[in-house]
Amino acid sequence: MKDLFDLKIGIGTWAWGDRLIWSYGNAYSMTDIQEAFQASLDLGLTFFDTAEVYGHGLSEKMLGTFIEGNQQNHDILIASKFMPFPWRLSKTSLLRALENSLKRLNLQKLFLYQIHMPLPPISIRTWMDALADVYHSGLIENIGVSNFDAEQTKIAYERLKFHGIRLASNQVEYNLINRNIEKNGVKEICDDLNIRVIAYSPLAMGILTGKYSSEAPLSGPRARKYPPRRLEKFQPLLKVIKKIGNAYDGKSPSQIALNWLISKGVLPIPGAKNQTQVILNTGALGWHLKESELAELDEVSNGIYLD
Ligand SMILES: NC(=O)c1ccc[n+]([C@@H]2O[C@H](COP(=O)([O-])OP(=O)(O)OC[C@H]3O[C@@H](n4cnc5c(N)ncnc54)[C@H](OP(=O)(O)O)[C@@H]3O)[C@@H](O)[C@H]2O)c1
Repeated sequence: MKDLFDLKIGIGTWAWGDRLIWSYGNAYSMTDIQEAFQASLDLGLTFFDTAEVYGHGLSEKMLGTFIEGNQQNHDILIASKFMPFPWRLSKTSLLRALENSLKRLNLQKLFLYQIHMPLPPISIRTWMDALADVYHSGLIENIGVSNFDAEQTKIAYERLKFHGIRLASNQVEYNLINRNIEKNGVKEICDDLNIRVIAYSPLAMGILTGKYSSEAPLSGPRARKYPPRRLEKFQPLLKVIKKIGNAYDGKSPSQIALNWLISKGVLPIPGAKNQTQVILNTGALGWHLKESELAELDEVSNGIYLD
């Protein structure tokens, strides 16, 4: 059975069907996404991260359609997420949500099921008990959390340990412009307890591809998180990323940003809207940045943490 620690990179599918943030149906189509899925398999990438809330279920549905049409029998590993909405008050609601996700995905079992974020009023322990139930029923192979701080991670870990189950992962934002998990204890506790850190938004929602700047700003909701004045702040970092990429015969900024994450021992899940992006991002594999280059990236990115 595959272990999360065997994986080097995955594919994020938030944009697959999401119109609000990512403009699905406008800038890219279902065909682009299907080609991205196929390109991933062709390149040996089989780990896809989705969630029940992405595109209100459309991301899972698309994956389900692609999985059904998967003639080559690739061993596809799907991670999905349960959103603990405040109106979900019982363990049964997790079972129902999981059954619905499995139905959309055309699967009998998930590789990884994650609590999307820690939300009140239901306690972390109760959700871990619910996850233990569906794990023991054979509906999921691994249990993960997402957006959990160090203390919440420890609580989840201990509760699952009580059930004889390992906490497999914590999915958190981690990239060259947001290194908070190195400072707030999350990376340390995950490394200590052998919990895989899954790095979401590894390209900072596209910023680390180098294509956005104050002259070429983002549009839509992404621009609220990264307005032009903030994009300006990232230019010295992007300059170093591009310089290092050029020293490798033109590795792209996204390849440098992802290779930096891989060197930190985490599992990045870059989002891709088409096959070109998948192919480019896969170029982060099979080589390693030098210690001196990692140190330079660490230094230049140090001063621009987001809070
Ligand atoms: N657990 C959570 O709370 C949480 C939160 C956020 C994300 N996630 C997960 O993490 C995944 C990745 O994060 P993300 O989608 O926020 O952002 P990301 O991976 O940092 O950036 C993805 C975006 O960057 C652009 N891009 C990607 N590769 C490119 C390339 N090679 N060249 C040019 N542009 C490229 C594309 O958008 P454009 O072409 O439009 O620029 C793409 O949609 C998500 O899909 C989701 O699975 C989880």
